[in-house]
Amino acid sequence: MAKRKVLKYGDERLRKKATPVTEFDENLFELLDDMRDTMYANNGMGLAATQVGVLKRAVIVDLGGTFFELINPEIIYEEGEQVDEEGCLSVPNFTDLVKRPYKITIKAKDRYGYDFEITGEKYFARCVCHEVDHLNGVLYVDKSENNEKYFKKYGKK
Ligand code: NI
Repeated sequence: MAKRKVLKYGDERLRKKATPVTEFDENLFELLDDMRDTMYANNGMGLAATQVGVLKRAVIVDLGGTFFELINPEIIYEEGEQVDEEGCLSVPNFTDLVKRPYKITIKAKDRYGYDFEITGEKYFARCVCHEVDHLNGVLYVDKSENNEKYFKKYGKK
């Protein structure tokens, strides 16, 4: 296992759409293990493969000690809304308010390729939506309330 470099705002790979994982093999296990090391080393709560420069649909999240690996995640249901503060390891020195669904159901595969579904609300919904956005080349500053401040300082990239 090893830490990988987290891409920062302005790196064009953060804007690419990731492709589905089709091989549930050693390479995927290594990627997921490295992502986990990288996330914890940076005190993150979620990380998408895109952020370490691998354009595959894989994300991890840690919700206060409950760890999830979501491969090819799809949001199949959403309900309500919430507004709360978000940050991102790829968008340093900034946090901002973002509107997200209050509750979601996702369908995903685990690292061995088995399908599962999870329904969660509040923080789970926020975190998973943020990470799934990464897989589509979307950053939270694209939709946050005071993003003009960020763009003013760092440019719109
Ligand atoms: Ni992020």
